Amino acid sequence: MTSVLPVPASTVPDRTPTRRRYVMCPPTHFAVEYAINPWMTVGTPVDLDLAFVQWDTLRRTYLELGHEVTVVEPVPGLPDMVYAANGATIVGGTVYGARFRYGERVPEAPAYRDALAAAGLTRFAEPSFVNEGEGDLLVAGDVVLAGSGFRTDPRAHAEAARVLHRPVIGLELVDPRFYHLDTAVTVLSGTEIAYLPEAFAPRSRGVLAGRYPTAVIASAADAAVLGLNAVSDGRHVVLPRGAAGLAAQYAERGYEPIGVDLSELLKGGGGPKCCTLEVRT
Ligand code: ARG
Repeated sequence: MTSVLPVPASTVPDRTPTRRRYVMCPPTHFAVEYAINPWMTVGTPVDLDLAFVQWDTLRRTYLELGHEVTVVEPVPGLPDMVYAANGATIVGGTVYGARFRYGERVPEAPAYRDALAAAGLTRFAEPSFVNEGEGDLLVAGDVVLAGSGFRTDPRAHAEAARVLHRPVIGLELVDPRFYHLDTAVTVLSGTEIAYLPEAFAPRSRGVLAGRYPTAVIASAADAAVLGLNAVSDGRHVVLPRGAAGLAAQYAERGYEPIGVDLSELLKGGGGPKCCTLEVRT
């Protein structure tokens, strides 16, 4: 009898992309009119034409990868609405609404609720606690990694778990430059992440190291260009172009890094992931 030895799963990384549905909002009204994170300086001039070209390149990148993009109508007076990731968290067709920390962004929550409903996503859960959508709630396989410390109230973590029917793993952010979880963690696949350990409180660092012992560790230099603010479909990782170290680490692991330049939107403290809300039905 010959026996076939199973190949350990870890040596055969599955880099099969899955088709995604994303929501994006054009930077029509983008500006740096207030400063609510260290990347923002009030009055920084923004080249709106360039911002639009960069944003549209991101949108077309997703389309070329075979993904679907729903574009929502930008609202005048809401310059940060371009950061669609903050608009909600959507799992199993349920929309867990956002609730913003700063007054300037508060009206974005109903704007996204209504836009998502118009796109057919009508199962809406009203949040009782401050949470900035996928900025702090990252779906990673069967769990949700949930940030707190700057924006999202930890009480929203339990609410998200209840509403989205997923276990939630709370993580405390400590560096104001990495104020949303999606600036400190990239979800690469259902089981793999990249992150910046220094962005987390010691206990949360321990949680991440325990759960993801083979994670990609970002350098300070890559994190400083918001390199972790990236979107993966399981194979292609769309990340800020300047994050050369991360791109090389992804390629070594069989991912295909795709660098994009969102220099104008970086002036508001956002990158590719911030501009992208995933719809999971
Ligand atoms: N200016 C926005 C803010 O500070 C940027 C949001 C970036 N979004 C994100 N998902 N990290 O709220």
